[in-house]
Amino acid sequence: MTGVNQSQSVIPTVTQRVLLIIGGGIAAYKSLDLIRRLRERGATVRVVLTRAAQEFVTPLAAGALSNERVFTDLFDLDDEREIGHIRLARDTDLIIVAPATADLLAKMATGQANDLATAVLLATDKPVLAAPAMNPRMWSHPATRRNVRQLEADGIHFIGPNVGEMAERGEAGVGRMAEALEIAQAAAHLLGGPQSAPAGPLSGRHVVITSGPTHEPIDPVRYIANRSSGKQGHAIAAAAAAAGARVTLVSGPVTLADPPGVAVIKVETAAEMLAAVQTALPADIAIFAAAVADWRVTTSANQKIKKTKGSDVPTLTLAENPDILMSVAKRGPRRPALVIGFAAETEAVVPHAQKKRKEKSADWIVANDVSPASDTFGGDWNTVHLVTAEGVTSWPPQSKDDVARRLVEQAGAWLAAHQTEI
Ligand code: C5P
Repeated sequence: MTGVNQSQSVIPTVTQRVLLIIGGGIAAYKSLDLIRRLRERGATVRVVLTRAAQEFVTPLAAGALSNERVFTDLFDLDDEREIGHIRLARDTDLIIVAPATADLLAKMATGQANDLATAVLLATDKPVLAAPAMNPRMWSHPATRRNVRQLEADGIHFIGPNVGEMAERGEAGVGRMAEALEIAQAAAHLLGGPQSAPAGPLSGRHVVITSGPTHEPIDPVRYIANRSSGKQGHAIAAAAAAAGARVTLVSGPVTLADPPGVAVIKVETAAEMLAAVQTALPADIAIFAAAVADWRVTTSANQKIKKTKGSDVPTLTLAENPDILMSVAKRGPRRPALVIGFAAETEAVVPHAQKKRKEKSADWIVANDVSPASDTFGGDWNTVHLVTAEGVTSWPPQSKDDVARRLVEQAGAWLAAHQTEI
C-alpha cells in the first residue's frame, strides 16, 4: 500500500492464524474485543483460557466470538487426541498473551509448563506478543522488571502496558493493558502482512513521538500546563506512519483525533509521559514535540481547594519535572539512533536552540518561533530552523503537515545513511 493518503485510515490486516492466550485479570474482557478486532482483519483466532481467566470470561463467550473451539485444559484427553498442545503451539503464525498477568510473565520467564497456556508457550517456535496488565506496583516491582528483561532477551514482543486508571479505585499509573486496536495493530506488524503498513522509507523502523501538553494537577479540577495543541507532534506521527514506520505516539491531553495507523498512549502528567516513553523504547528514532510542563505541584490536593473570603490565597510548592528528552538522549546502549527535540522560543530562536541541543544531548533540534506575531500556537503553520551538529537550515514558512513530512523524510534519509538497526 504505497502512497497512502494521510487522511485515509490505514487498517493493518492479519490474514493468518493467531492463538490468543487469555490470562486471568480484569483486562480479560478487552481480549474478547481483541478476538473481534483480529477477525475483522481476516485472522483465524483460536483461544486458550487459563483457569484464572475463566473467572473473568467464559469459554462460551470466547468460542462464540472466535467461532472456534476454546481450549482450557492440558489434560483434556479429547483435546490431546484431536489437537495436542504441541500442535496448538505450532499450528499458528503468532501467539498473543493478553492480558499477560504478572504471574504468567513470571512463569514464562522461568520456563514453567504446568498448564495448557504455559505448556503451549514453552513448546512454540512462533513469535509471541505479550500485552501486560497489572497493578502499577506489580509492574514496577523488581521481580517483574527482571522477568520482562529476561523475556525481551528471549525474543518476546511487548505491547503496553499503558498509563491510566486501574480497576482498583484511586489507583493510576503504568499497568493498563493496551487497547484491543493497539494489540491488533502490533499483531499485524509482527505478522508482516503485505498490507500491515504502507511500504516506505521507514518500513521496519520504530518511531516514538511525544506530543501535546502535560497537565500537572493542583487539585482535582485545576492544573498547570503549557500551551500546546499537539498539531505538530500528531502530524509527525501521521507522517512517520505514512512512511511505513511503526509509530508509538505518547500524547498529553489534546482535542485531536488519533492519527491513523499509530499506537497512541494517552497520558496526563510529565511523570506518566516519561514512564510511557521508557516502556515504548527501544526505537530507531525518538521525536519530542510535547510541551512538557517544567514544574509540578509537589503535593496536589485530593479535594478541590476552596476559595474562602478573607483567607489567604494558597501557596503552591513546585518541584521540577523530569526532562524526558534529556533522559532518553543521554541513555546508554538503548538510546535511539536519532533523538530529535523541539525548542519553542520567542526571541533569539536559533542560539537558544543550539544551546538546548548541546545541553540535552539531542542530535537535532527543531527550533520554532512562537512569538505572538508568528501565530504558531494552535495554528496550522510553522516557521522552523533545523539545528544539527553540522549547522542550521532555515525552512520557509509551511504547514505543520509539510514540516512533519519534511522532518520524517530527513530522519529516514539520515537513518539510511547511517544504516543503524535496533
Ligand atoms: O521546554 P523546553 O524548551 O526545554 O523543551 C525542549 C525540548 O525538550 C522539547 O523537545 C520538549 O519536548 C523536551 N522536553 C522534555 N521534557 C521536559 C521538558 C522538555 O522532553 N521536561
